[in-house]
Amino acid sequence: MADPDLRLVEQPSESPLMRPYIICHMGTSIDGRLHPSRFTSAAAGVSSDVLRGHYERIHESFEADGWIVGRKTMSEMAKGSARGAPSSPKLAREAHVGNRNGRKLAIGIDPSGRVQFGKDNVGGDHAVAVLGEHVSDVHLSELRADGVSYVFAGPKGDDLPGAMERIGSTFGVKKLLLEGGGSINGAFLKHGLIDEFSTLIFSAVDGVAGTQSIIDYHGPEGDRPGAGQALRLTHCETLEGGMVWLRHAVERAPS
Ligand SMILES: NC(=O)c1ccc[n+]([C@@H]2O[C@H](COP(=O)([O-])OP(=O)(O)OC[C@H]3O[C@@H](n4cnc5c(N)ncnc54)[C@H](OP(=O)(O)O)[C@@H]3O)[C@@H](O)[C@H]2O)c1
Repeated sequence: MADPDLRLVEQPSESPLMRPYIICHMGTSIDGRLHPSRFTSAAAGVSSDVLRGHYERIHESFEADGWIVGRKTMSEMAKGSARGAPSSPKLAREAHVGNRNGRKLAIGIDPSGRVQFGKDNVGGDHAVAVLGEHVSDVHLSELRADGVSYVFAGPKGDDLPGAMERIGSTFGVKKLLLEGGGSINGAFLKHGLIDEFSTLIFSAVDGVAGTQSIIDYHGPEGDRPGAGQALRLTHCETLEGGMVWLRHAVERAPS
């Protein structure tokens, strides 16, 4: 059941885009940092469980078709291990669809094929790997044996716009949540693939220079991943425990 507060902002029932509508949904400290384990404690009388619960509740209320994370984050979540098969038949670099069985998608952006899933789901959602075409046949065979679906993002695995279109057409999904880490969020921003930000701000600070932030683009010096884009505030709400929830639509910047 969707939270009634979410109806304050109209959600797209059908995206006009070829690719799914993508919402970057993240929790952060007031200094934009990524790791809640590093944040200052909740103030006296504020329940950490309530604060943590807001993230999942809002995640669910978006009623998205699945979620996307970068290779490092997916490696922490997926618990499989390599079987070390010596060889595999040659496999065409074409999308492979396992048995999704109506489940939401758990999508890992894994250009070099490093993530081992060990099963066909992550937390109950159907696992999908986004790969570079150069990954080994052995890795593809292991993904198939695990029941994992995969699509390709070009020869090097860096064609994120193409991969999102392929995911949209292959799985018929309309809305996805992008949930970190900062590197993959930065890459999606650079490619203009974020339609909306949903940001939960903890009343907390990390404070250490150089710690990861929720958008952490790695690119040439001087590059501005958000160039040409503008954010419009569409929702601002103070949640129980003092967490602030912001929603921003991403628009083309005025010329
Ligand atoms: N709210 C939260 O607390 C939260 C949410 C999410 C994640 N996290 C944390 O964030 C940390 C990981 O964040 P992260 O930023 O280091 O890693 P990440 O975004 O999870 O993964 C980055 C990896 O994604 C792959 N990738 C594919 N295409 C890319 C592109 N165009 N640009 C950049 N990377 C691309 C690369 O894999 P290869 O290196 O294989 O090429 C890259 O190393 C974890 O510790 C996780 O727990 C926290």
